[in-house]
Amino acid sequence: MNRLRGRVALVTGGASGIGRASAYRLADEGAGVVVTDIQDEVGQTVAAEICDGGGRAFFVHHDVADEADWQVVVRRTVDEFGGLDILVNNAGIGDVKPIEETTQADYARTVAVNQTSVFLGLKAAAELLKVSGHASVINISSIFGSCGGFGASPAYHAAKGAVRVLSKNAALHWAQDGIRVNSVHPGFIDTPILDPAKVADMEKTMVDLTPLGRLGQPPEVAACVAFLASDDASFVTGSELYVDGGYLAR
Ligand code: NAI
Repeated sequence: MNRLRGRVALVTGGASGIGRASAYRLADEGAGVVVTDIQDEVGQTVAAEICDGGGRAFFVHHDVADEADWQVVVRRTVDEFGGLDILVNNAGIGDVKPIEETTQADYARTVAVNQTSVFLGLKAAAELLKVSGHASVINISSIFGSCGGFGASPAYHAAKGAVRVLSKNAALHWAQDGIRVNSVHPGFIDTPILDPAKVADMEKTMVDLTPLGRLGQPPEVAACVAFLASDDASFVTGSELYVDGGYLAR
């Protein structure tokens, strides 16, 4: 499919997991892709592989919690690709501690990377998206943005819940500006972020809690990101798309 030919996409956290799969998928569909991450080497590899495959991509070092970094990324995007149509706010970190063991600094860092980053991205990209004509923002939340999960990871849940409602708020704010904003809610997806949770029989628990009976794969989330990015989703805004193997249907 070439649904994104001529479009420009920015994918944060594009060096690994869901972000990497999304960068590949958006490029496969014709978009020029700006891959950003704090992991420079692997991020550069993702961009290089897209170019080797005939696509258009480049990598920028980017801490999504840093407003100045966002300015650099947006400037580079305009310099290299001339504009921006698709913003995928994907970068995130896990958090497995319960409330009692979570320090204020832990809480603040998780919120900065998983939640404040989305606000910074929306703000930095706003003017470019308004003139796109095909603008789509996809914010990666989580099943844990909509339920209490295992009762641990308080900052992660709070941040992902905020991303869910922030997406709806921005969707309403920009509805008349031609910018669609949606959230994607992955279930248990087999990426490095799950490694700390893959202790003892935790992986089996995640599989058992998933009606489809397996972990999801990053390309299965990327396919949904590509749909929301494309004009196939032209009447979809302010919605939340669950890619969770049925987890939240219980
Ligand atoms: P991952 O660990 O494979 O990828 C996350 C990427 O974000 C990494 O490349 C990492 O370097 C980058 N990153 C971390 N902090 C950053 C920062 N401050 N600035 C820029 N980049 C930063 O994990 P995965 O699973 O691909 O996660 C992607 C998104 O999906 C995250 O927002 C995560 O919370 C969300 N998610 C993942 C689920 C899963 O089961 N894998 C489930 C639900 C949501």
